[in-house]
Amino acid sequence: MQHKPNTKFNMSEQMIFRRIGEEETEYATHHLYRYPGQFVPQIPRFLIQKFSKKYDVVLDPFCGSGTTLVEANLLHRNSYGIDVNPIARLVTKVKTKKISMSNDELIRIININPDFDDFDEITDECKKFEYSYLFNQENLMRLLKIRKEIYENYTDDIRNFLLVCLLSIVKSCASIGEHGVRRVREKKDAINVFEIFKKNVCVNLKKLTSLNTDVFAEVLDCDAKKISLDAQTVDLVVTSPPYLNALNYIKIHQIEMALLNERVDEKNYIGVDKEIVGTGSNDASKKLMAIEIYFKDMENAISEISRVLKSNGVCSMIVDKDRKIKNVRFKLASELTERAKKYNLVLEDKFYRYATRENKSEGERILVFRKI
Ligand SMILES: C[S@@+](CC[C@H](N)C(=O)[O-])C[C@H]1O[C@@H](n2cnc3c(N)ncnc32)[C@H](O)[C@@H]1O
Repeated sequence: MQHKPNTKFNMSEQMIFRRIGEEETEYATHHLYRYPGQFVPQIPRFLIQKFSKKYDVVLDPFCGSGTTLVEANLLHRNSYGIDVNPIARLVTKVKTKKISMSNDELIRIININPDFDDFDEITDECKKFEYSYLFNQENLMRLLKIRKEIYENYTDDIRNFLLVCLLSIVKSCASIGEHGVRRVREKKDAINVFEIFKKNVCVNLKKLTSLNTDVFAEVLDCDAKKISLDAQTVDLVVTSPPYLNALNYIKIHQIEMALLNERVDEKNYIGVDKEIVGTGSNDASKKLMAIEIYFKDMENAISEISRVLKSNGVCSMIVDKDRKIKNVRFKLASELTERAKKYNLVLEDKFYRYATRENKSEGERILVFRKI
């Protein structure tokens, strides 16, 4: 029988939790790549410390940029992450893997030749790139040149690391918003892509040294609705699920995916429904249907979470506050709680965390379930 941690938050813990966000959030590898909707790292940190012990297994089935897995590593917990977004999986792998580069490897990429001896080849690739119209031509040429060097000279973990260093520059090279292909008005200037990339490599290599090596962090290429883990193998789940009609990660990472020749199966994504997102129809019945599909998908994910969680294990979900989606009320926390109960996940505690002490209209709810 697993040890049963106390899931109730006492007053002083609630106070600590409410103050989270006022502290530094850029430590370790957390901001190696900026991912919209990223956790404030102290949230998973607090939950992992409270509900698990050294070398336990922590799972985040909607891991995004891997904040839970990074915190698990820093606290000497093993971890699994799942995300249907290939950019999220790549970033999580890189943020949780300590690597070292030999001097030769580092020098080769740092001394990347800015003189384009392969000018014609790169120009040709620029023309073929489907989003080239959004880019400052010089910037795109440099990005593609670096990409070529990485693919030709590096493999495995080092290649992944360098690709993430490259991806983090993409949005500053093109006329695109933070949330994807929507064109921003002003045309981007040519920037010193090589210099910024080199700086990223050096700064990020240093960040990786903060990681521990006595635990594993594994990113699974599956869907939260069908988790490729055996039953009862996870001690703690810490996650923030995708919301309906909030961030459209397919759109946000369209260009990054094109750059890496990655494709994603849209139908696996939870919460991205064209009838509601973007310019979708105003038909109320379609909206209700989209909400129904969202909760059906979330129920499948919850049943999988319950299957892989050990008895007495804790599942902690950080969810958006209730809101209206084009006049349709969307009671996220209570709907998820109802569905969790069907799969033996019983709500033991919940509370709000405001974004700041002054701003009480923004923030999230922390739900703590125990598997009975
Ligand atoms: C709110 S974000 C998580 C952010 C994360 N906590 C972090 O710190 O970066 C939700 C994530 O769920 C992912 N997602 C959507 N549908 C999914 C599915 N069916 N299975 C796994 N992940 C999914 C999205 O790609 C997105 O990265």
